[in-house]
Amino acid sequence: MKKEVVLIIDFGGRYTQLVARKVRECNVYSEIIPCNTGLDRIKGYNPKGIIFGGEVEEYSVEAEEMLKLDVPVVEFSSELIDVEKGSQIIKEFLVNKCNCVGDWTMSAFAKDYIEMIKEKVGDKKVLCALSGGVDSSVAAVMLSKAIGKNLICIFVDHGLLRKNEGDEVEEIFSKQYDMNLIRVNAKERFLTKLAGVSDPETKRKIIGEEFIRVFEEEAKKIGSVDFLVQGTIYPDIIESGVGKAGVIKSHHNVGGLPDVVDFEEIIEPLRDLFKDEVRKVGLVLDIPEDLVFRQPFPGPGLAVRVIGDITDEKLEILKNADYIFREEIKNAGLHREISQYFAVLTNLKSVGIKNDRRTYDYTLALRGVITTDFMTAEYARIPYEVLDVITNRITNEVDGVGRMVYEITGKPPATIEWE
Ligand code: XMP
Repeated sequence: MKKEVVLIIDFGGRYTQLVARKVRECNVYSEIIPCNTGLDRIKGYNPKGIIFGGEVEEYSVEAEEMLKLDVPVVEFSSELIDVEKGSQIIKEFLVNKCNCVGDWTMSAFAKDYIEMIKEKVGDKKVLCALSGGVDSSVAAVMLSKAIGKNLICIFVDHGLLRKNEGDEVEEIFSKQYDMNLIRVNAKERFLTKLAGVSDPETKRKIIGEEFIRVFEEEAKKIGSVDFLVQGTIYPDIIESGVGKAGVIKSHHNVGGLPDVVDFEEIIEPLRDLFKDEVRKVGLVLDIPEDLVFRQPFPGPGLAVRVIGDITDEKLEILKNADYIFREEIKNAGLHREISQYFAVLTNLKSVGIKNDRRTYDYTLALRGVITTDFMTAEYARIPYEVLDVITNRITNEVDGVGRMVYEITGKPPATIEWE
């Protein structure tokens, strides 16, 4: 895979990722590297150009050296962050100064990667933990295109997915892609472990541990494998410490798998890609749009959206209500505009009336947010008429819901999830 590379040198500025993305929008691969990277490594990339990302007060020794290389270097200016002007400046730099052709597309990436993996893996065995989320799905499809049935996917269905989602995952991967998929229906196991537990952190811990245990049992049946696939994406890598960004996302990932599987090497097909690039690869590989544009969803699933202890009855109420909410948002044509939307079953019961009878039912909350990075968010201004339809349908069709509220808090001060 020979590709044009432009390096973004990270001096700790806020805009490093933005600049890297703008370069990639011009179909030139960019990579962020720390400002103290030695010259040998820089030369190893054979970069077509270098961009200093951030306002630099004082150059590091290494940065001074970079300036002496026979490669075009541009320094950061605040104009770069302007939506249109920035893209124009970057484009001119790439084309006129760096002589880039701009041939890094997602279909070229997918094709080259699949070829490379075919050669690397040969007829060895690869194991994948498939969650049905975008990242693990795209990673699995890439591997499956390369090595077919030598990819074994384990899908642990903990029963905490949205309505019908477990069946959809099975349908897509077993039928459409004819993959070697093992679905483990482990709902009872998870609910037993979770019985009576209300503390959100404890719930997360139990689910994480049980997940590993179930996965381990299945993996043992398969025996040793040569490779383990992970759906790590570029922001996971940047956010866990390339530059100066924090580790905000670390608590989100189900860790521990590599410890319980007997394998030789990890394969991470998406480690160089931003989320929107992963989605583009998904589309190139014909993964259904509903899956490619799937909203973020917590690993512990609906467990974080049932406040208090989890029972089968509460889960059913939430799944049915959430399903109607999503259906009506789609009917209103708002599903691509709202970044994330879901229902939450609060633990609050109150008095109401249904069919002339006194009821004592749950309050259901709806949440919809607009955000680009999920670190901050504002609430989605869903029109009242749409909220009316949703509320009527849910209170009529879902037993157990007596009252509904729509949340209008932003992040901060609230988080996106309620837990
Ligand atoms: P909060 O609630 O922290 O959520 O504002 C920010 C984003 O992260 C998602 N989220 C998770 N994603 N595993 C994930 O992959 C998790 O355990 C998890 N918990 C929260 C949340 O849905 C929102 O998009």
